Amino acid sequence: MILEALNFAASVPLTSARHRPFIRSSVNLWARANRCQRDWAEHERRTKAAILSSAEACRQKRTVVVLGSGLLRDVPVAELSRLFDTVVLVDLVHLASVRSWLAIQRFKNIRLIERDLSGLDALLAGEAVEPLSFLRQVPYLDLVVSANLLSQIGIGAERRLEGHANADELVPHLIAAHVAGLGQVPAETCLVTDIGYTVIDRSGRRQETVDLVHGVDIGPVRESWDWPVVPFGEESRDYQILHHVIAR
Ligand SMILES: C[S@@+](CC[C@H](N)C(=O)[O-])C[C@H]1O[C@@H](n2cnc3c(N)ncnc32)[C@H](O)[C@@H]1O
Repeated sequence: MILEALNFAASVPLTSARHRPFIRSSVNLWARANRCQRDWAEHERRTKAAILSSAEACRQKRTVVVLGSGLLRDVPVAELSRLFDTVVLVDLVHLASVRSWLAIQRFKNIRLIERDLSGLDALLAGEAVEPLSFLRQVPYLDLVVSANLLSQIGIGAERRLEGHANADELVPHLIAAHVAGLGQVPAETCLVTDIGYTVIDRSGRRQETVDLVHGVDIGPVRESWDWPVVPFGEESRDYQILHHVIAR
């Protein structure tokens, strides 16, 4: 609790006013990731391996952009820093804990960008939804990684659109815009995302299944695995929540 409060307090002055409301959920994620370290390890290992396999396949390794870099738990940042000239990390918030870890590691080629990658503001303003169009301005771009971000775009938008008459149409639009945006960048791409989750009780019965990509076709999948985001005992002793993750 004290560490969370300190991380929160230290992150406020480092974050633009516009993105400060997102610090809380980032700190909550940080705390949960620490509590669930053992249960999340395999998912983090597989995400890192998928990213590294895409990185190593790049013919040139000048700039890599990581979307949804967050806590850098599932991003092989040291390896990317070694392989590429420049590593750009993009998220709504870069917590003080993440910034200090980066500083201690003394990486010389890492840039942080605070940015809303959802496209929701444009959608609500009736503008073209091109949340990844800023990538066109990134020089020498060779790889774009979307690191366990896509489902969060949907979840964040659902939260903001609560009570909105067209929420059911708008959220899939944002998911599709992210997938299309990745398809349009003039670089290699690696998409890792949870596409759904299942609530499972102690007897192994499936209580509920939710589609986190809202029916959007995310294209051919290279590999998939389960991520126990909420293991038994985290929210309740009676159920766990397994997220189904794909890498593309
Ligand atoms: C499940 S976490 C990803 C984990 C991260 N790759 C790591 O290694 O710790 C999802 C991340 O997406 C970010 N995120 C959620 N919605 C976003 C948005 N609209 N724009 C940018 N980042 C967003 C969150 O801040 C969070 O860091």
